[in-house]
Amino acid sequence: MIPTIEWDGKYVRMIDQRKIPSRIEWYVCRGYRDVIKAIEKMVIRGAPAIGVAAAMGLALGGFSIRTKSTATFMDKFRKIAEEMLLGRPTAVNLRWAVERMENLVERMGAALVDEIRRALKEESEKILAEDIEINRRMGWNGQRLVPARATILTHCNAGSLATGGYGTALGVIRAAHEKGKKIKVIADETRPWLQGLRLTAFELMEDGIPVTVIVDNAAGSLMRQGMIDLVITGADRIAANGDVANKIGTYQVAVLAKTNKVPFYVAAPLSTIDSTTKNGDMIPVEERGGDEIFRFGKMRIGPSGVSVLNPAFDITPAKYVSAIITEKGVIRPPFRKGIKDLLS
Ligand code: MRU
Repeated sequence: MIPTIEWDGKYVRMIDQRKIPSRIEWYVCRGYRDVIKAIEKMVIRGAPAIGVAAAMGLALGGFSIRTKSTATFMDKFRKIAEEMLLGRPTAVNLRWAVERMENLVERMGAALVDEIRRALKEESEKILAEDIEINRRMGWNGQRLVPARATILTHCNAGSLATGGYGTALGVIRAAHEKGKKIKVIADETRPWLQGLRLTAFELMEDGIPVTVIVDNAAGSLMRQGMIDLVITGADRIAANGDVANKIGTYQVAVLAKTNKVPFYVAAPLSTIDSTTKNGDMIPVEERGGDEIFRFGKMRIGPSGVSVLNPAFDITPAKYVSAIITEKGVIRPPFRKGIKDLLS
């Protein structure tokens, strides 16, 4: 499994996910602004991976603050944290990681600046290691829902590359495969960034898990023909009532799953649950540029001047979700109570 992101001496490097599968190339971030740019430009993507990147970016930010005064350091650090939050709006893991790093700095108010800098780097390494461990636990919890022989549909990439490692939805699939279950995966290609075709297919092939790619609009037809046993996706944010924000197209997959009596599972760490957001309507949905749709590589494929809408995520109401798989256990409806109990 190739790493998603790591420290390389005093810099942070991440696999440039825009280049996969053509090339495996490191993208080096020398300062926190490089990390913000990498998040905005999709060098690194996927909710938990964005969280890890933000934490490492803030540690880089700490090293860039030139002062010996703790008060000045804290002031400047808060400004960097505000900038980091602007990276991408939907994945709550970004805010979660920024708050965790800010809390650390607050707690160290009496320490020397050098000690705070070191602690920030260590905390970011801890977040990365914890994320991998969480995904393994989630995988273990989730694989129990997978029959001994199953064809699983997934949307986007909720794999190793979308996290610190191992993956959320793909973590469940990996754990089921490791348990010896006979798994086949159908991966939606996931327009417009093709995370399913480029990243999910790449990861699963590397692991020797059979994978077949379909165009997004084939999912319903396959379900109707009984070719899908269950659906597993990741999430970018889960509201307190269980509504799920995930890659655009997830909602239609969930509705089709319910219509065809196919279980629809969401695998996500507790850091993706935002109990301050009451329901899905309150989740900010990122709108990205039209170029992503009407250009294919360097070629324009839409008529010049055409208007385009490009929401990057959608909201799947909780009533379409069969269960939410977390590192602490599986939550079944009614989600509001299940989420509250698990977070307390
Ligand atoms: O735009 P992206 O590629 O960041 O969107 C990623 C997704 O929607 C994933 O499904 C989600 O972050 C879960 S990743 C474990």
